[in-house]
Amino acid sequence: MVVPRPVRTENSAASPFVLTDAARISVAGIGADGVARLLSAELASDCGREPAIVAEPPAYGDIAIVIAPGEGPHEDGSDSAEGYTLEVSAEAVRIGAATTAGAFWGVQTLRQLLPAACDGEPLSIDAVRIHDNPRYAYRGAMLDVARHFFTPAEVKRFIDAIVLLKLNHLHLHLTDDQGWRIQIESWPELTRIGGSTGSDGSRGGFYTQAQFRDLVSYAAERHITVVPEIDMPGHTNAALASYPELNPGGVAPALYTGSEVGFSTLRTGDPVTQRFVRDVIREVAALTPGPYLHLGGDECLSTTDADFAAFVQDAFRVVAENGKTPVGWHEVGKAGGLPAGTIGQYWDFTAPRGRAAELALSFVRDGGSVIMSPSDVAYLDIVYAEGDPIGQDWTGSPTTLRDSFFWDPARIVPGLGDAHILGVEAPLWTETVATIEEVEQMVFPRLAAVAEVGWSTAPADTEPVVAARDLADFSDRLASLAEHWDAAGTNYRRVPEVAWPARWSSGAARSGAATPAPREPATEVTEAAR
Ligand code: ACM
Repeated sequence: MVVPRPVRTENSAASPFVLTDAARISVAGIGADGVARLLSAELASDCGREPAIVAEPPAYGDIAIVIAPGEGPHEDGSDSAEGYTLEVSAEAVRIGAATTAGAFWGVQTLRQLLPAACDGEPLSIDAVRIHDNPRYAYRGAMLDVARHFFTPAEVKRFIDAIVLLKLNHLHLHLTDDQGWRIQIESWPELTRIGGSTGSDGSRGGFYTQAQFRDLVSYAAERHITVVPEIDMPGHTNAALASYPELNPGGVAPALYTGSEVGFSTLRTGDPVTQRFVRDVIREVAALTPGPYLHLGGDECLSTTDADFAAFVQDAFRVVAENGKTPVGWHEVGKAGGLPAGTIGQYWDFTAPRGRAAELALSFVRDGGSVIMSPSDVAYLDIVYAEGDPIGQDWTGSPTTLRDSFFWDPARIVPGLGDAHILGVEAPLWTETVATIEEVEQMVFPRLAAVAEVGWSTAPADTEPVVAARDLADFSDRLASLAEHWDAAGTNYRRVPEVAWPARWSSGAARSGAATPAPREPATEVTEAAR
């Protein structure tokens, strides 16, 4: 009962493993100790057990983590960057992997196999052998902290929740018209002024560079790479409001708290703007050890085509000069002349409109790859159902769990197959999403569906996607995962496709984890009645 669905699971009728208070975590191989420390901490918070870590062979009833070449899931012994094997028997649990990332994902599977409500009864896991590795190297979630700001503690809570789904990238949309959320030492007004408010006049806020570094390292310990996005040349009102000299005539616009898009632009060719772009990119690049820096480039409706091309070519080159691989929303493909290897993020529909398919392919032609975020299935700010008080509806219809589940990244843009798809990402835009509880309500469970699309085995070429994916099986696994969400106090939308567990599980009661009332109790009642 694991989400995302493992590549191969062999259940067994043999005796189960029982996790007792005497269990230890036996470690072997470089990095196993760090993975074991996280497992021990997670077991402490999940189930009140905190096994000791020992560098000796496992005894009966122990959990072993072994990291060594050939320990991965491949039968031929070849190593997999993130794969693992997990064997559960009465004697022991054994996680094997060639890398620490693989072992860490094996640990996440183990957590899901353990009962969520661990109060007192023997904690047993049925005997099983799992061989597992991801389909895509990039599996991401995006959090828009610009429209509504989320504190470092809230972002860590989000990281903790996405780890369980084996997502390995967190894209932070750090700047937009409504807010600038990352301290730039050479341009301090960006956060003092531009960070002072947000959508609907919400609380402002920003990350100091120290806080951001701490977030990056918290994520990295959990094998999540933070992808910072500084959106430009459009979506820049917060910056323009902070510095008059970035504007024509030296007059700054007012701060903006509405939800329109496309009205702001930085100035192509202006020397102050060029210095601004270079300073910001240099400081942000220095803040993250990850390979990517996202420069946005979407919805530049107030930038002429010629200015857009010149701006994007220059700014993306600066990213490359600072040692990072540039990422942009697919519109930046219009510019041409981007650094080799630039990654495009596709956000058009599952049936591409206009030039979207051609622009997605342009990244491949120039030696890059594409992250798939089709907005009609992977945008998690879109309402679940008509009339929802939170969420957007611009894609034309709600996005159900079923929609987020029945799609395939390699069946969207003709000619764009897995060889050129870096992975998948589910963005959450927060114009209407004000609290971390609402964030969780919007993303869970649909994010679990996108995580499964990104991790689990691709459908066979000849197989229709609806035949290859089993919604009933997924729903059963989600119901089991939801017991863990309840125990951890993670919110989720109780969509009608799933037979959810009773809300107040003993685990939730034991840990005292409150599930805050959603802002829209009426919606839940309606769904339950369906
Ligand atoms: C976007 O949704 N404007 C990338």
